[in-house]
Amino acid sequence: MLYSAVTLMRQLGLKRVQYHRYGGPEVLKVEDFTLPEPGPGQVRIKVMAASANPMDWKIRKGEMKFLTGGKFPRGLGHDFAGIIEAVGANVTRLKVGDEVFGATGLKESGTFAEAAICDEKTTFIKPRAINFEEAASLPIVTATAWTALVEKANLRAGQRLLITGCLGGVGHVSVQVAMLRGATVAGSCSASRRDEALALGVSEAVDYRAFDASNYHNSFDVVFDTHGSLTIAQCNDMLRKGGVALHIVPTPLKMIYGVINQRHKIIFAHLTPESMAEVSAAVELGKITPQVGKVVPLSDAISAIVDFEKNGLSGGKLVISPME
Ligand SMILES: NC(=O)c1ccc[n+]([C@@H]2O[C@H](COP(=O)([O-])OP(=O)(O)OC[C@H]3O[C@@H](n4cnc5c(N)ncnc54)[C@H](OP(=O)(O)O)[C@@H]3O)[C@@H](O)[C@H]2O)c1
Repeated sequence: MLYSAVTLMRQLGLKRVQYHRYGGPEVLKVEDFTLPEPGPGQVRIKVMAASANPMDWKIRKGEMKFLTGGKFPRGLGHDFAGIIEAVGANVTRLKVGDEVFGATGLKESGTFAEAAICDEKTTFIKPRAINFEEAASLPIVTATAWTALVEKANLRAGQRLLITGCLGGVGHVSVQVAMLRGATVAGSCSASRRDEALALGVSEAVDYRAFDASNYHNSFDVVFDTHGSLTIAQCNDMLRKGGVALHIVPTPLKMIYGVINQRHKIIFAHLTPESMAEVSAAVELGKITPQVGKVVPLSDAISAIVDFEKNGLSGGKLVISPME
């Protein structure tokens, strides 16, 4: 009886960033909501920190509504780190009290909140070496880097790789994953951040405003276009024989090439126990270092997310901390 009352209190009157229709930043509100019980295979998480990704506003605008559907209100945010509060039926790997990190699926979302529900299969034990804010900055960007470089490109020692946007959320961890695999990395970034890119480990850092693909004819085994600004022709020209271009911002043309041409691969990040175990091990060893920028409370989350959407990030991932 007491347990049920406590559980009910945790489900009612929670706060989160949510919206009632697809649209611009004006649809976002911090509101009370009621969290359901975790269903079979799901866990309920007390969110200690959550991080923002460009997909948050792409979904809010309705750009992925064929995948995200028309059910509202809809919470914002996918990445999280927190503590398991309740587990649903058939949950076997995790238990109440576990410190975890992960990301909800596209449809679920809602981690910019005091509590959220996530599938057990995309929730993982948090590496001990990092705090909740650092852990919340990792799931989607590391899963993207891993899916692209390890699973799709099979990046190997001695290979040469170009990463566009090498200091962005995906770019920053991709540089580290590439170095973990023994590859040499060239990266593009804004001119003012060149030293930061070199300190991270890229062998050559190029200002993206001055980047000229024709200077890199036949130069790379892998081109990872995290910003999405390269053309198919530029990728083809820069790739060595047998090389592969990885696209995470697919245009219709890139989608077609992803189907008809072995040199081009469209990446959809996915979190698996195997990849996140490897990521966690690398984090524990200090080989993948999270890059947390601004940390804001839930009450300031909307303005910080809108600023990210309009002006980009500098200095690391935007983290929302509902516990502040
Ligand atoms: N398909 C998938 O599964 C998947 C997964 C994750 C992300 N994505 C997509 O991938 C993209 C990047 O995500 P993110 O989290 O890394 O975003 P982000 O953190 O905003 O990073 C973007 C980076 O691109 C840099 N940049 C801006 N203009 C550029 C240009 N013309 N050339 C090269 N770099 C440029 C920015 O540098 P400055 O800030 O210094 O200007 C910034 O470092 C987003 O569109 C996101 O939606 C797709």
